[in-house]
Amino acid sequence: MHIKLQSPLDMHLHLREGVMLQNVTPFTAAVFAGAVVMPNLVDPVDSLEKVRAYRKKIKECENTENFAPYMTLFFKQYSRQQLLDAKNEIIGIKLYPAGITTQSENGVSDISAINETLGYMEELGIPLLVHGETGGFVMDREKEFLGAYQQFAENFPNLHIIMEHITTADAVTIVDHYENVSATVTLHHLLITLDDVAGGLLEPDLFCKPIAKTPKDRAALQDAVFSGHPRIMFGSDSAPHPRHKKECCGCAAGIFSAPVALPMLAQLFDDAGKLDLLQNFVSGIACSRYGITPLQKTITLEKKPWLVPELYHDLKPFAAGQRLSWSQVI
Ligand code: DOR
Ligand code: ZN
Repeated sequence: MHIKLQSPLDMHLHLREGVMLQNVTPFTAAVFAGAVVMPNLVDPVDSLEKVRAYRKKIKECENTENFAPYMTLFFKQYSRQQLLDAKNEIIGIKLYPAGITTQSENGVSDISAINETLGYMEELGIPLLVHGETGGFVMDREKEFLGAYQQFAENFPNLHIIMEHITTADAVTIVDHYENVSATVTLHHLLITLDDVAGGLLEPDLFCKPIAKTPKDRAALQDAVFSGHPRIMFGSDSAPHPRHKKECCGCAAGIFSAPVALPMLAQLFDDAGKLDLLQNFVSGIACSRYGITPLQKTITLEKKPWLVPELYHDLKPFAAGQRLSWSQVI
């Protein structure tokens, strides 16, 4: 059995810098028509000059001829003129609460003090992408942030707000409620719960932010996706870290899922009897919500077993060493 996907898109991706950038970009660029590139570099991407320089570096990587990096700015207070200048070269602006995750120290420390920039973004039609967590108890962080999403959605009704990597049943109810709110969901949050991370021997390779939640939350995410929710789309949040940052005390948060994303999604949707919804989940919804026309790219997946390698370079992929029932036709 085969399926063909037209122009798959990864709407949330970390490509990093330097050698890591060169190592990881080809995995996504080979199979996705485009990806939304996160700006949380060591020196955050917070100016048009940095956007241009980072985009150039990405396009110098292998396999990127037929791949569109959709660039983001790191949220800070921008003037209207700065946003006007950047508007045509970015897909949106990514807001991190200060210190909430990897390289977010320069994020927003007071959510109530950013209305001016949000107003400009609304006026200029620049989407707001949000890492929606508080600094509270780890299992409640996303839930505690939902009030902020409600305020954004109500105060800026024409602002397109994207709740990134949602993990809870409560988050789904917010996407349901507001027409100007969309969400990305990752492959791993559709598959794992906290039990997989810490229920047995600790699994650093499944440690990510937001942390995977309860079986009930996972079921709510699956129900939303398998109902063909018109505002919930795929974003891998593939976030590679070298081995020494994963296998150590103080393990970094992030799951490197780029090499397995499409075969695993095919397997997941197939197992649920929902393969017919995959095209929309990995492309159609993103195109309609963001108003983008992706590059043409056809990817064929087949129901043929594939053993996921243990390592790519210095990086352990999601599902390393597992036998998948779907693979990609090269
Ligand atoms: O697990 C995560 N890793 N979550 C994030 O929000 C950031 C990401 C990273 O950059 O490593
Ligand atoms: Zn991320």
